[in-house]
Amino acid sequence: MDRAETDTSADLTPDLTAGLSVRDEFAIFEHTTYANSCSQGALANRVRAAAEEWLAGWDENGAEWEFWVERNEAARAAFAGLLHAEPDDVAVTTSVSQGVSALVSALDLSGERNRIVISEYEFPTVGQIAHAQELRGAEVVHVRPEPDGRIPLERFADAVDERTALVCCTAVSFRSGHRHDVSAIADVAHAQGALVLADSYQAIGAVEVDVRTLGADVVTGGTVKYLLGSAGLGFMWLRPELRTELLPTQTGWFADEDIFAMSIADYSPHATARRFDSGTPPVPSLYPGVAGMELVAEVGVPAIEEHVGALVALLLAGLDELGATVATPRAPAEHGPLICVVSTDPSALVDALAAERIVTSTRDSNLRISLHLYNVEEDVERILAALAANRTLLA
Ligand SMILES: Cc1ncc(COP(=O)(O)O)c(C=O)c1O
Repeated sequence: MDRAETDTSADLTPDLTAGLSVRDEFAIFEHTTYANSCSQGALANRVRAAAEEWLAGWDENGAEWEFWVERNEAARAAFAGLLHAEPDDVAVTTSVSQGVSALVSALDLSGERNRIVISEYEFPTVGQIAHAQELRGAEVVHVRPEPDGRIPLERFADAVDERTALVCCTAVSFRSGHRHDVSAIADVAHAQGALVLADSYQAIGAVEVDVRTLGADVVTGGTVKYLLGSAGLGFMWLRPELRTELLPTQTGWFADEDIFAMSIADYSPHATARRFDSGTPPVPSLYPGVAGMELVAEVGVPAIEEHVGALVALLLAGLDELGATVATPRAPAEHGPLICVVSTDPSALVDALAAERIVTSTRDSNLRISLHLYNVEEDVERILAALAANRTLLA
């Protein structure tokens, strides 16, 4: 893909070249238009090499214990860098599910403040963990969207009160692409003394997630999607003051104040966010995870956000020309890298695109098209042409 060298036309804005600079690192683009980073990021050569390095080290040295611990800390530092946080405020988790389960295990839900408020756009794991707390005395309150798909701030204000322990508002919805105004929701929650959890899985790596301004108390996510790593690795950032206040009862030996003490005599959680770590670090995922995050950091999230924003604008304009119904709001502040298009038969549409080697996915009645640093204008054009050819499957 050498458009940067050959195409000097005015419509190729400089930000669109950000994708071109790394695109060659992703073998899949040799034969496929990949627009499914909301499910899993494409595989970079260096991420593959990192995974192979793990296997080579195993062959060579057996248990590379010290290097594993170092990779775990490298992952913590990489997450912290992306979040504009300190490593001590970041737990390395094996999934969002593990981190959030540990988080709620630290909440006392037996008294007056027993409510967990969740937006209707939470990923299933957050909703299911919230409802599991009903066994511990919690009440779960759902905040539902309006007919246009938006969840106005007032709906959160209606749902949150002095009985609320935790408000869960995903940064970007995995099913519709809606982006929450986390900071405004956090103001509402904090006025009632509630904590705020922002699941940023559909944002981190493609959208700036700056914990210094986001407003959330806890931010979680993982490496599978826009961080270009594999499954099995995630993070949970906690506001520094919280980490000593919260005592997770769901824990593990890597959360101990001294893992090498090997003590079975007591529970003495680490003084930092490490108290939300769990058992043996997810070693096979650390190698590719760190390599993926390094690639993202190299290009820089602000540049990626600008690049993806420009591609999304092209996509939205083309969808309008096709007369498609877009489920995701248009305003840049209200969406991330994922655009959802309503289909009369989303599975058939995904299959029709796949037949042309265009990879997308579905949720509900939507086709999900997600763009990332490696996508270029030509990908958007191919997707739009394929949608035009399958116009009957668009609502
Ligand atoms: C918003 C969001 N949260 C969480 C997850 C995954 O959670 P876990 O890491 O527990 O599998 C996903 C996707 O897999 C997601 O899109």
